[in-house]
Amino acid sequence: MTRLDALYADMLAFFRPLWPGEDKPMVLGEGKADGPVLMMIGEAPGETEVVKRRPFVGKAGKNLDEFLALAGLERSEIFVTNTVKIRPTALGPTGRIKNRAPDKEELALFVPWLLREIEVVRPRALVTLGNVPLRALTDDKNTVGSVHGQWLESRAGVPLFSLYHPASIIYRRALAPVYESDVMRLSADLSAGALPVS
Ligand code: URA
Repeated sequence: MTRLDALYADMLAFFRPLWPGEDKPMVLGEGKADGPVLMMIGEAPGETEVVKRRPFVGKAGKNLDEFLALAGLERSEIFVTNTVKIRPTALGPTGRIKNRAPDKEELALFVPWLLREIEVVRPRALVTLGNVPLRALTDDKNTVGSVHGQWLESRAGVPLFSLYHPASIIYRRALAPVYESDVMRLSADLSAGALPVS
């Protein structure tokens, strides 16, 4: 059993009794789990991710794959995970189940596990997608609108690069060129080995 498998086994054992009778499948991280160049951290899985039990395989995953192509990276070279490992849901007005942002309680439960995950995977850099992982790993008051495309220190002791969430580009096409130039900067810094020390 790898250290990551052991961590995930502990995590599943911790969460299993918390929501008795509720079906809250966990979507765990995947990819290069031993010293990858990057660990990409999203918000929480959506519907498709829960069905497939894999992070970033739905619509946002398509955008993530475009990002990786732009940065000249393969999924197999990096590690992809989420801040919260269950799908936070709410009932929409028509009674349909929809995604919602993780709440304070979910974040308080999951962020300590994310910190342990980072410690075990030992990535050279973290890339946060959107506000949720950014705030969880830096300062609660940061917004991706003001710190995107920048290197920041993280609570995990690993340099952190902040990007918009790939899904936000689906809704706000005007962000696409900003996102692209952030990705190009990240890619240039990675190839130059120019990572700041956190
Ligand atoms: N959005 C995320 O933040 N994570 C996923 O895995 C899918 C969509």
